[in-house]
Amino acid sequence: MDKAQILIASNRGPVSFSTADDGSLEHRRGGGGLVSGMISVANEIDSIWVCAALSDADRRAAAEAPQARLDQAHDLDGMRVHMLDIPRRTFEGAYTGVANSTLWFVQHMLYDIPNKPSFGSHFRRMWEDYTAYNNAFAEALVTGAADGARVAVQDYHLALVPRILRARRPDLRISHFSHTPWAPPEYFRMLPDQVARDLLEGMLGADQLGFQSPRWADAFLRCCADVLRADVDFRHRTVEYGGRIVGVNVHALGADEETLRESAAEPAVAARRSTLEEAVGDTRLIVRVDRTELSKNIVRGLEAYRELLIAHPEWRGRVTHLAFAYPSRGDVPEYREYTDAVLRTAKEINAEFATAEWTPLILEVNDDYPRSLASFQMADVLLVNPVRDGMNLVAKEGPVLSERDSVLVLSREAGAADELGEHALLVNPYDTVETAEALHRALSMPEEQRREHRRRLAEAAVALPPRRWFQDQLRSLG
Ligand code: G6P
Repeated sequence: MDKAQILIASNRGPVSFSTADDGSLEHRRGGGGLVSGMISVANEIDSIWVCAALSDADRRAAAEAPQARLDQAHDLDGMRVHMLDIPRRTFEGAYTGVANSTLWFVQHMLYDIPNKPSFGSHFRRMWEDYTAYNNAFAEALVTGAADGARVAVQDYHLALVPRILRARRPDLRISHFSHTPWAPPEYFRMLPDQVARDLLEGMLGADQLGFQSPRWADAFLRCCADVLRADVDFRHRTVEYGGRIVGVNVHALGADEETLRESAAEPAVAARRSTLEEAVGDTRLIVRVDRTELSKNIVRGLEAYRELLIAHPEWRGRVTHLAFAYPSRGDVPEYREYTDAVLRTAKEINAEFATAEWTPLILEVNDDYPRSLASFQMADVLLVNPVRDGMNLVAKEGPVLSERDSVLVLSREAGAADELGEHALLVNPYDTVETAEALHRALSMPEEQRREHRRRLAEAAVALPPRRWFQDQLRSLG
């Protein structure tokens, strides 16, 4: 069996399957610059991407794959993909229960504290699922890794993997990268003690840890000092624990200009653009594109738009808000409720302000990437107002594709604010009046100023494209 020199591990893999009308399996490569960036580096060297089967079709694909080269391996531009068919109930406990309903809520500080969380025996069972799921990943990596291979583990789903791997394969060089924010210890400590320790110790099994922003790296260091009483050097960002020193780095992922421009040149984008142009006429455009995600703060964004129309009625009939949301995590009840709240608020705004000639808000909740790209090209203002975000790539991709020198209204709580803050209008995402004023300022900004800001934003946005971002991670492993 061929073993690999580079291994990537992530819950969501670079490929997904669906069942065609004739019952056969079709596969689709995941969109986005991250996947292309990582594949472009990884397939130059013998590599394997280990991921989970997420759908029934994925499970079928994982089960039907020939036992060639590596168990259940699929070929993808020369890179092998090992899709793990983790028992359904274990997967649900790990992914929906722990990763999405607990760790995501902790790191984004999303809990409605008087009511949640409450860590009972149900949570303890799901934690066992999470542990089993992490073990399944570690097992696949142990099997697939050549001597001294480098392993790049991604995100909060797989926090325990580095430690398990190190115990079994001390020859490997291991990194772990968090794409999310990290909560300060005062919040992180709400997790049961043993769980908080397991997560930190799990990650500290790596040689190098990576974060999107210095804020999240520093919060992680504070958690290590507080929860583990580890010896932390805040200046050099290292943690000494269990006789080893672990480096903590910041690699801020940038937009993938090349892939973006290629996708934006597709005929489907031009087609969406004509449809949108017809719908919005010659009004100015405020655009937002998100997953229907609690942390993205879509409802307050819509409320800020309502505030704009009240405080500055001169914009009525002259502006349209395009809000495009991708369905996300429908298995989590809070996400379903949130999507309903988004739809309800949008309906209220249109009921309040629409006239026979003007629809103030066009909201769509569905999956349409070409339409998102078209809206980036057309935007006058791009609104990105998460309550908390590891990075936020929309804030970077929008300025790259903008053809009307769009002004970025950006939450100061997004990791992207560290790099883009100087050329964006920064807002407190909880303050809808301040956000409305920023939208007004953005719409009123003189052309020359808009052009200069947009140019600087686009420059900063592509500073560390995915390919280089991934190379940096590998390089940090030596
Ligand atoms: C964030 C996380 C990713 C995750 C993505 C989509 O960006 O950092 O790990 O894949 O959201 O979420 P999903 O649950 O649909 O994979």
